Amino acid sequence: MTLERRAVFLDEMGIGPLWQRRDMPVATETPAALEPMPAVALAEERTVAEQASVIAAVPRAPEAPPSSAVAGMNWMQLKESVAGCVKCGLCNGRTKTVFGVGDEKAKWLFIGEGPGRNEDQTGEPFVGPAGKLLDNMLRAIGVKRGENAYIANIVKCRPTDGNGRDRPPTQEETAACMPYLERQIALIQPTVLVALGKTAALSLLGLDPETPVSKLRGTVHRYAGLPLVVTYHPAYLLRSLPEKRKAWTDLCLAMTTYANA
Ligand code: URA
Ligand code: SF4
Repeated sequence: MTLERRAVFLDEMGIGPLWQRRDMPVATETPAALEPMPAVALAEERTVAEQASVIAAVPRAPEAPPSSAVAGMNWMQLKESVAGCVKCGLCNGRTKTVFGVGDEKAKWLFIGEGPGRNEDQTGEPFVGPAGKLLDNMLRAIGVKRGENAYIANIVKCRPTDGNGRDRPPTQEETAACMPYLERQIALIQPTVLVALGKTAALSLLGLDPETPVSKLRGTVHRYAGLPLVVTYHPAYLLRSLPEKRKAWTDLCLAMTTYANA
């Protein structure tokens, strides 16, 4: 990758301007030794205790189609099913379901955690400040929401705690909602999946809830035979500017994977 191109990417992500030592060859990726050390436990990576403090939602009796039916649905049936879904307790607190948005033939699929307040109101994923950063990340790799990129979440309804604040979905909620995402992935057949943050990565890879995102970066994983790259969640990147550089490295890996696919 040329330095000019890299500078454009970094600028899109709000990291620029890029400067380098003139007596050094240009490295495509920031050397690990130059990365700032994470000062504290990653804010996004909630501890087990925090996870446990999450108010467990009471699942309602399943009235939606079984996952085997979901696996055979077309786009219209899938959208209708999600819109009326009561498979988990999150249906009780939602304003709108957030199905996902973008190009249904996209080669790039970005997967977040679940709707927040803005998304719950509008029905579209990633519309807040984190969404702006995600849009910049998309632009950095040459795609847009509606053009060769699709954006979805692990759960389609907003999870909140007892104080009305956003929280990660529980395992039960994730399990209830995953068949929809699985079907979306099967219909889209993307070339590369990008998991945004811990919830997306762990849910898709079926890993231990204690696994930190830092352990999953830098490797091309597989989901249903498709390459999956893990990076930080944009909301986390907004809180931790130095990690943006790492997200850039992750996008480079995703682009290489895409190019080689
Ligand atoms: N965070 C997510 O993970 N998904 C959204 O849609 C919005 C914020
Ligand atoms: Fe249904 Fe998913 Fe919403 Fe739960 S989160 S009610 S499974 S659409």
